[in-house]
Amino acid sequence: MSSILLFRWFLFFVILLTSATALLDIPRLSPIGPRIHEDPAEILSESISDDFERFFYNQTLDHFNYKPESYKTFEQRYVINSKYWGGANSTAPILVYFGAEAPLDGDLAVIGFLSDNALRFNALLLYIEHRYYGKSIPFGSREEALKNGSTRGYFNSAQAIADYAEIIIHVKKILHAENSPVIVIGGSYGGMLASWFRLKYPHIALGALASSAPVLYFDDITPHDGYYSIVSKDFREASKTCYRTIKKSWAEIDEIASKPNGLSILSKKFKTCKPLNDSDELKNYLDSMYSGAAQYNKPPTYPVNIICSGIDGSSSTDSGNDTLSKIFAGLFAYRGNKSCYINPPTNVSETRVGWRWQTCSEMVIPIGRGNDTMFPPDPFDLNSYIQDCKDFYGVPPRPHWVTTYYGGHSIKLILQRFGSNIIFSNGLKDPYSSGGVLENLSDTITAVHTVNGSHCLDIVFANKTTDPVWLVEQREVEIKIIEGWINKYYDDLRNQQ
Ligand SMILES: *[C@@H]1O[C@H](CO)[C@@H](O)[C@H](O)[C@H]1NC(C)=O
Ligand SMILES: *[C@@H]1O[C@H](CO)[C@@H](O)[C@H](O)[C@H]1NC(C)=O
Ligand SMILES: *[C@@H]1O[C@H](CO)[C@@H](O)[C@H](O)[C@H]1NC(C)=O
Ligand SMILES: *[C@@H]1O[C@H](CO)[C@@H](O)[C@H](O)[C@H]1NC(C)=O
Ligand SMILES: *[C@@H]1O[C@H](CO)[C@@H](O)[C@H](O)[C@H]1NC(C)=O
Ligand SMILES: *[C@@H]1O[C@H](CO)[C@@H](O)[C@H](O)[C@H]1NC(C)=O
Ligand SMILES: *[C@@H]1O[C@H](CO)[C@@H](O)[C@H](O)[C@H]1NC(C)=O
Ligand SMILES: *[C@@H]1O[C@H](CO)[C@@H](O)[C@H](O)[C@H]1NC(C)=O
Ligand SMILES: *[C@@H]1O[C@H](CO)[C@@H](O)[C@H](O)[C@H]1NC(C)=O
Ligand SMILES: *[C@@H]1O[C@H](CO)[C@@H](O)[C@H](O)[C@H]1NC(C)=O
Ligand SMILES: *[C@@H]1O[C@H](CO)[C@@H](O)[C@H](O)[C@H]1NC(C)=O
Repeated sequence: MSSILLFRWFLFFVILLTSATALLDIPRLSPIGPRIHEDPAEILSESISDDFERFFYNQTLDHFNYKPESYKTFEQRYVINSKYWGGANSTAPILVYFGAEAPLDGDLAVIGFLSDNALRFNALLLYIEHRYYGKSIPFGSREEALKNGSTRGYFNSAQAIADYAEIIIHVKKILHAENSPVIVIGGSYGGMLASWFRLKYPHIALGALASSAPVLYFDDITPHDGYYSIVSKDFREASKTCYRTIKKSWAEIDEIASKPNGLSILSKKFKTCKPLNDSDELKNYLDSMYSGAAQYNKPPTYPVNIICSGIDGSSSTDSGNDTLSKIFAGLFAYRGNKSCYINPPTNVSETRVGWRWQTCSEMVIPIGRGNDTMFPPDPFDLNSYIQDCKDFYGVPPRPHWVTTYYGGHSIKLILQRFGSNIIFSNGLKDPYSSGGVLENLSDTITAVHTVNGSHCLDIVFANKTTDPVWLVEQREVEIKIIEGWINKYYDDLRNQQ
């Protein structure tokens, strides 16, 4: 199984939550692109090396109160690679990857930043799975864990980073590595966790690399149309004609759909796996295809270019000349020659189920479509979002909890005097970079971004053949900064002894 396929499985972090139907179909915010494999376990077994040892930690269910039911524990999975570690006696560093809204297996196969730099840092590598995903499920099974409010209630980011704190301390203790500096690393939602962890647990993590972490996409800090503005810009920059074709396609889809027999014409034109019940099914599919392509617009193939080459007719299909034929040609170029498209039979993934809860509780990321994008205008409507979540889960989300608990407003004003040692890395073609930290907040809270980069590129495995110079340079800047933190820490450690 090639790592290209794996990459596409993984890094998803979008929320398109504008209607009750969309709620059931929330794209995600994670470091890997549109999924090809639903079952990451199948991936892992063949792709990770023997250097990785798996463990389980008896994790506290509820870190934050003393009610009897909080004493319960569950087994949380973590993985260690000690092949390159310099050892406790030389206080060699520990690089820790924070799992996010997916089983850890996919990350191990895709996130290369730790392995790629283990030798250079003589580092121990530790990867920790996020609670409620993969093999780290409380209450015995996913069904039980997600069944009702009493069990889902322990599924939140504060509990998750407290889990990470406990496991890091546990691992350092058993390895007698109390003085080894810890660098935490995460991408997308996991990147947010890494940056928040450094702010909450500075005594545990010396620094954090937060890749493509949209920590500012909460409340009204970032304009709600930021995400779709960048998707549109990516397409416009790839090809103006492609952008214009997409922009006018929505009205044409609606027009055909409104005719008698229109849905069956569309179903035929787009070779749907099941007949379309309404035009939204088609439009939502295309919307997430364009968004996913922009978010994961990675070298060497650049999915946005692939779609546009189909739409602009430079790829060879014998389809017609009209707008919708061009759109289909874009779909064909991107997805390949399949027996059918749009609504194929799939099983609902763990990520979809888990992230749906997370976005309907605390991770309320207000993404809307403004009126100057290639999409039909569709502003974010908090009230209907809240209503949809209530209908689904019986409780409203807490849209302002993230900024209450972690901050985000006036971030420069606050963090220039509080906090240090965080890298916020972004690729500006990533629509989520609109909610990222793009300026240096202080000497030690730095923004490292690339003009042509996309979501979490810096933390996936390096590829000597295909990585462009700017990506190699971005990683080098990050590594140098982290080396600086560690060297300074060693100075401090020597001075106190
Ligand atoms: C985890 O905790 C349970 C209950 O306290 C105990 O039975 C089990 O042995 C523990 N497992 C480990 C690996 O410590
Ligand atoms: C590490 O240091 C301790 C105490 O000084 C010593 O007993 C131990 O042998 C050392 N371990 C290694 C691997 O050098
Ligand atoms: C949730 O499910 C558990 C386990 O089946 C049950 O004990 C509990 O009463 C349920 N809670 C609610 C609020 O329904
Ligand atoms: C369309 O609606 C029918 C009946 O409600 C349903 O069985 C079918 O699964 C729907 N098709 C899709 C693609 O959702
Ligand atoms: C396709 O469209 C172009 C430009 O609108 C036109 O010049 C050309 O004749 C069309 N080709 C066909 C086969 O309809
Ligand atoms: C797509 O695949 C089908 C069946 O394998 C084949 O008949 C068709 O020619 C292919 N289409 C293109 C454009 O390659
Ligand atoms: C869905 O899951 C079932 C049971 O694990 C499996 O047999 C089936 O092939 C899966 N379907 C798809 C489309 O992945
Ligand atoms: C687009 O949105 C802006 C700001 O909401 C508004 O002022 C403007 O009138 C809108 N333009 C159109 C064409 O709807
Ligand atoms: C922030 O500072 C680092 C050096 O510490 C530099 O590499 C980077 O380009 C700066 N970022 C911005 C956005 O100016
Ligand atoms: C980004 O990509 C475009 C198109 O390939 C290229 O013209 C431009 O020079 C690149 N910019 C940077 C900073 O690499
Ligand atoms: C690098 O990318 C090329 C082209 O996608 C691929 O064939 C090769 O296997 C990759 N190499 C590594 C080490 O992943």
